[in-house]
Amino acid sequence: MINRRQFLTRLSGLSIIAAFPLPTLAAGHRRYQLTAARVEHPIGGPGKPVSPLLLYNGKSPGPKLTARKGEILEIDFQNRLEQPTTIHWHGIRNLNEMDGVPNVTQAVVEPGEQFTYSFPVRDAGTFWYHAHNRSFEQVARGLYGPLIVTDSEPSENSRDIVLMADDWRLDEDWRLDEASFGSLHDWSHGGRLGNWLTINGESRPEIPIPKTGFVRLRVINAANARVLSFQFSRKAPMQIIALDGAPCVPFDTATLRLGPAQRADIIVQADPDLGSLYEVTGGGNFEAARFISKPVSKSVLENISASPWYSYPDIKDAKLINVHMQGGAMGNLTSAEFEGEEMPIRKLALEKQKFWAFNGQVGGYEHLLADLNLGDTAILRVFNDTRWEHTMHLHGHHFWVKSKEFGQETHEVLRDTYLMAPGETADLVFIADNPGLWLFHCHALEHHAGGMGGVISIS
Ligand code: C2O
Ligand code: CU
Repeated sequence: MINRRQFLTRLSGLSIIAAFPLPTLAAGHRRYQLTAARVEHPIGGPGKPVSPLLLYNGKSPGPKLTARKGEILEIDFQNRLEQPTTIHWHGIRNLNEMDGVPNVTQAVVEPGEQFTYSFPVRDAGTFWYHAHNRSFEQVARGLYGPLIVTDSEPSENSRDIVLMADDWRLDEDWRLDEASFGSLHDWSHGGRLGNWLTINGESRPEIPIPKTGFVRLRVINAANARVLSFQFSRKAPMQIIALDGAPCVPFDTATLRLGPAQRADIIVQADPDLGSLYEVTGGGNFEAARFISKPVSKSVLENISASPWYSYPDIKDAKLINVHMQGGAMGNLTSAEFEGEEMPIRKLALEKQKFWAFNGQVGGYEHLLADLNLGDTAILRVFNDTRWEHTMHLHGHHFWVKSKEFGQETHEVLRDTYLMAPGETADLVFIADNPGLWLFHCHALEHHAGGMGGVISIS
């Protein structure tokens, strides 16, 4: 456990700059103010009843934060909630003490308290930020927003469009279904699945696009647990140019499938017939957003980089970390260790609300999966021995994976969250170049809360 005072004294601009070698980059500061508070918000749309959401700066999603690569992002955060919280900067290869994991990288920010997050952004790409305490509830109530880092000075650009998707669960009265938070069924099955899809906080919004040329769509899945699949009504192919912020060798896909927390940057030809973005899970075409052609003044797409942040490492001397994932409904886990005691799964479920284990141990912030030396190359060999898909996220690093997420063909990609099929074994290969305690967990937030998590120590 880390006490709060230690954190405050460790916050100095100098130590931040020293932590990353960024020789060619000028360390400009970019400041934002974020306040988390309860807001009565009509999530079902204008005129519908309001629900008690938890939002950043009163907005759903929270404000779009932008920065230029190499800058130091400084966020003055105020917690006006009635519960403690933290903010995680998902996908940023961050300083450990700015990573926002309660009691692992910082003490929680208590109600009424303030915390300054300050860190350099060393990569350009599509990221997001979200609450990381009781995230199964705080994120479901709206505590998240986009974070876009660009190579040049950020500006409004009508060819660069963020589409942040969420899957809310509303009751018959169009209110957020609060009674189902903590549902044992959700935690042991596929997580909290909703019935109300929003893009940038609205159902079926109109998204202005230029009349000709190409646009870059930055699609972010902020849902607790829903895997989302998108297509264009025109059946235009989507060219994927980046995954989880990191550039990839571009490839086409007809359907864009994103697990919770995943992002994809896609390039598409803008024309008046682009039509709509459909969500196609379950076979039907559900209109998620409608593209509306607009004449535009500013119309230059930023240069698109195809070079990865780092190349596939040499794995000859790599350290192997085995993670055997078990549990959940219809699974093969009969008992697991929890707080030092072996318990049958029934007791874990009913008394502890735990359903999942890594290597026979119910995961949590104390569960150490590996102890690496700084600079090691590591292979996280993850075996999904469950009946469910899992969207596995590593903090502080992007890993290489031979992805089976895009149909028959395997794509070797760098990303921070990997959507695994039941029965799949995947090697997540990374260079442990960022010191600290880093979480590895399922981003189906109910699975995480139910035991799918552990920590990798790098020193
Ligand atoms: Cu998006 Cu542990 O987080
Ligand atoms: Cu999971």
